[in-house]
This record gives sequence, structure tokens and C-alpha cells, in this order.
Amino acid sequence: MLEFWNDEPHIQGQLQEVSKTIEQTVATAHGFIRPVLMDHVQSTGKMLRPALVLITSGLGTGEKEADAIRVGAILEMIHLASLVHDDIIDGAVKRRGRSSVFAKVGAKQAVLAGDFLLAKALMLTSGKEPGIDSEVISRGLSRLCESELEQDAGQGDFFINRSTYLRRIGGKTASLFALSCYSGAALQEVTNQTKLLCHRIGYCMGIAFQIQDDILDYIGSSTKLGKGTGGDLKSGIPTLPLICALEEEHKQGLNTLRTLLSNRKIPMDQRTVKQALGQVEALGGIQKAQFLAESYKKRAFEEIHRLGNTKVEQQLINLFEKLSGRSV
Ligand code: FPP
Ligand code: MG
Repeated sequence: MLEFWNDEPHIQGQLQEVSKTIEQTVATAHGFIRPVLMDHVQSTGKMLRPALVLITSGLGTGEKEADAIRVGAILEMIHLASLVHDDIIDGAVKRRGRSSVFAKVGAKQAVLAGDFLLAKALMLTSGKEPGIDSEVISRGLSRLCESELEQDAGQGDFFINRSTYLRRIGGKTASLFALSCYSGAALQEVTNQTKLLCHRIGYCMGIAFQIQDDILDYIGSSTKLGKGTGGDLKSGIPTLPLICALEEEHKQGLNTLRTLLSNRKIPMDQRTVKQALGQVEALGGIQKAQFLAESYKKRAFEEIHRLGNTKVEQQLINLFEKLSGRSV
């Protein structure tokens, strides 16, 4: 999926270097797990996290390309490890259109393979600050795990409010985006204020991205996404389109959708999923969720314009615009 970066050949080339670093690391794995992990890391997505590191590392004047590639590889490997574990938790047999690590080797070995990736990512950090150090990584990782724990504990409870949802996606997605933007800037001699500005930009981008991803679970085409539609509802995970639809229903003094989803057995049957999808759409849940994603985008743009570096500002804006129009 590196063709996502076709219009930015320089970043595309750097991302290929990030991939090479990751593959070299995975090549040190022993036995049958090596090809399994190699397949997982070679099925690259858009590589947004390393791209954010590379872009924000352009904020200073120093030549930091090699460091930015290494830090980008660390963050991508953490993300890839989290996906291995996520597929076990979700029981997902597909990842990016291919068989997941979980589907290939089962839960026990997939847990260990994810741990292996995480351990190797941490090894790339050792003794090579600045940019990213163990404290910064630990904070991001613990937020990631906490929000997954919270999501799992709340599975099947569809009636959460917006702030609970935003806290969850803040931990599960935005924290790693924020860390990526922060650590690129931190490779350079920039002020703490600039690093924190980058952190906020990454956070807003992560929230907007996850909302968009959650919307695609309601409207996306399964072939393009490499996974089915309605998956979140089926597995009892409330996301913004549903939350907005339930808010709207409450405002109208109705409760058809609420009743449909009350005390449902998880995984939910296909007929109920389909009915719920239709009602979320009819209540304007998707549009309202899109509106909130836009407001995070707007907030991020305001912060981006305060960076004072035209090239970096333009690259971040281009990325945002491309992501906003994505269907995958
Ligand atoms: C995808 O969410 C999952 C994440 C973004 C984070 C998962 C984090 C963990 C499992 C914590 C463990 C972390 C490490 C580093 C080992 P999703 O299920 O909404 O998206 P999907 O549709 O792509 O599966
Ligand atoms: Mg998942």
C-alpha cells in the first residue's frame, strides 16, 4: 500500500528504508515463526506512524534521516505487534486481506510472536536517545493496553457516551499518532513547545483517523477493506456512528435502536446487525460522526499552521486531505 505515497516519492523512498529495517529485524527470528512474521510485516499498510516521524523530523535544521528511519521503524513495529495481539483478541482471521498471524499459528504462538516484535522494537531504541526513550514509549504503550482492556471489558455494552469513546480511541490510536509526531520533532533541536504542538497535532489526527475508520465499518466495502462491514456491531463494540444515532434517537423521544441492542448476545446475529446498520444510517449517525471527525481535522489544521515551517505544514495537510478522502 505504499502507492498511497506515490505523490511524495521522497517519503515513499524513506518508508521503503523503514520497511527494510523492520525486515532485517524480523529476519533474526528463528524457525517457522520467521516466515509468518515476515509475511505480516511485508503486508504494509500506509505506514502512517513512520511517515509522521519522517515529516516532523523535518522541523529542525539537522540531518536526521537515519534516526528518523530508525524511530519510524520502532513505532511501526509497535503498531504491527499491537495488530498481532488485536487479531487474537478479536478472533480475526484476516488482516489487510491476508490470513492473520493468529489464523496461521493460533493464539498461543501469536501472543509470543507479537511479544517478539515488541521486544525487537524496544531493542532498536536502546541508548540512542533523543527522539524516543523508554519513558515516552512506556507511556504510549500503557495507554494503548489500558484502552484495549477498557474496550474488552465493555464489550457488548453499546450504551457508552462520547467521552468514553474518545478516551478509548485516544489510547488505542491517537496516542501512537501523537507519539510519532512528537518523536520526529524531538530528534531535532526544537523547543518543548514545538514538540508538544506536534503531540497535539498527532493526537487530533489519530482521533480523526479512528473516527473515519469506525465510519468505514458502517459503510465500507468489504473487498476494499479486507474485512467485513458491521464487524464492530457484531462483536459488541460501540463506535461513534452508533453513539450519535442513539443520541439522536433519545432526542426524538424514541427507542427502537436502543431496544434492538439491549441485552444482545455477542456475537450478534447477522439479521440484527443489518437492522441496526440501517437504523444508524437513518438516524444520521454516520453524518454526525463525520462532522466530529471534521472538527478534529479543523483543530489539527489550526495547530499545524502554528508550526512555522511551510514544508512540514504542507506535508501534514496533504496527508490529512488524502486520509479524509480515503475509502480504505
Ligand atoms: C486495532 O483496533 C487495534 C489497535 C489500534 C491497538 C491494539 C492494542 C493492543 C492489542 C494492546 C497490545 C499492544 C502491544 C504493543 C502488544 P481495531 O480492532 O478497531 O482495528 P482493526 O479493524 O484494524 O482490527
Ligand atoms: Mg481488530
